[in-house]
Amino acid sequence: MRVVSGIQPTGNLHLGNYLGAIKNWVAMQDAMAGGDTCLFFLADLHALTQPVVAADMAANTIEMAATLLACGIDPDRSILFNQARVAAHSELAWLLGGTARVGWLNRMTQWKDKAGKNREGQSIGLFTYPVLQAADVLVYQATHVPVGDDQKQHLELARDIAAKFNTDFAVDLFTLPEPYISPAAPRIMSLRDGTAKMSKSDPSDASRINLVDSDDLIAQKLKRAKTDPEPLPDTPAGLENRPEARNLVTIFAALSGRTPADVLREHAGQGFGAFKPVLTDLAVATLAPIRERLTAMLTDRESVGVVLRNGAEKARSLAAPTLLAAQQAIGLQV
Ligand code: TYM
Repeated sequence: MRVVSGIQPTGNLHLGNYLGAIKNWVAMQDAMAGGDTCLFFLADLHALTQPVVAADMAANTIEMAATLLACGIDPDRSILFNQARVAAHSELAWLLGGTARVGWLNRMTQWKDKAGKNREGQSIGLFTYPVLQAADVLVYQATHVPVGDDQKQHLELARDIAAKFNTDFAVDLFTLPEPYISPAAPRIMSLRDGTAKMSKSDPSDASRINLVDSDDLIAQKLKRAKTDPEPLPDTPAGLENRPEARNLVTIFAALSGRTPADVLREHAGQGFGAFKPVLTDLAVATLAPIRERLTAMLTDRESVGVVLRNGAEKARSLAAPTLLAAQQAIGLQV
């Protein structure tokens, strides 16, 4: 098993990232057997598709790396690095640019959402973003890619690119990666709108719980989280057309490692006035220790930098043979 996944080092890690992806990274790392490798990276090159403040780039990368370490990524067992330090990602992305089709990229919902009506004014990087993402996983022959549900389409594209490359150049080079989407928390929604995903780019900080939020702030955000006046139903079917209620039950279930059905069996009939304080205790119990580890880690940023540089060196040696094989398949090695 070869596990590969990435996260953009922009803004703070939020509960959606944690429950939808990072918790699974740690679980997969902890379940590794001999011969398995996990690679996790800060997608700093992908972050260039948004406006860049050069002075903040390095600090953001170190802070996100420290957050992953605080969440349980162990650099003795997993390879943790930043994408920009492993040139093979960019080199393979260019080679795959000959394989990927404009029509495929035009269908990406993230591109359509982010570009809106102003496609002509977007950076080329925002459009070709999923090709770099394909290179990120294909360069390591990833078998499993733990992500939230919003990345599924990008992973399907990576499979299409891999299959077309293998066919076009008559090679059996790229492994087709499987997205691994957490069944417990495929998609965590905004606390202000149960139909929009919890996101770093939402202008309202009240829409998300950040991993750095204090206990009081977590309590305040959950107290103000949008709900409806009905009590909790006794089965998940009763959450239909109640997106905010469903979201809080999903968060409760994912935090407590139980199914929504179990949570509802226990809390059926309760109003949100009673449910929210229990949810708050649960969120604080999970997040406070992460926040404390993160604060301690940020007192020694240089050590985090060393972890990333060591990780990049290991990643470079794992990526090299696949990049070489791709160049050979195309006839670029003279
Ligand atoms: P990013 O940085 O937006 O998010 C990191 C991870 O968090 C998941 N996620 C969520 N899961 C559930 N509910 C939510 N509200 C939520 N918000 C975010 C994302 O699905 C993701 O798994 N393009 C990627 C980064 C990337 C990548 C890769 C991922 C670059 N190369 C290669 C996997 C493999 C991104 O922007 O994720």
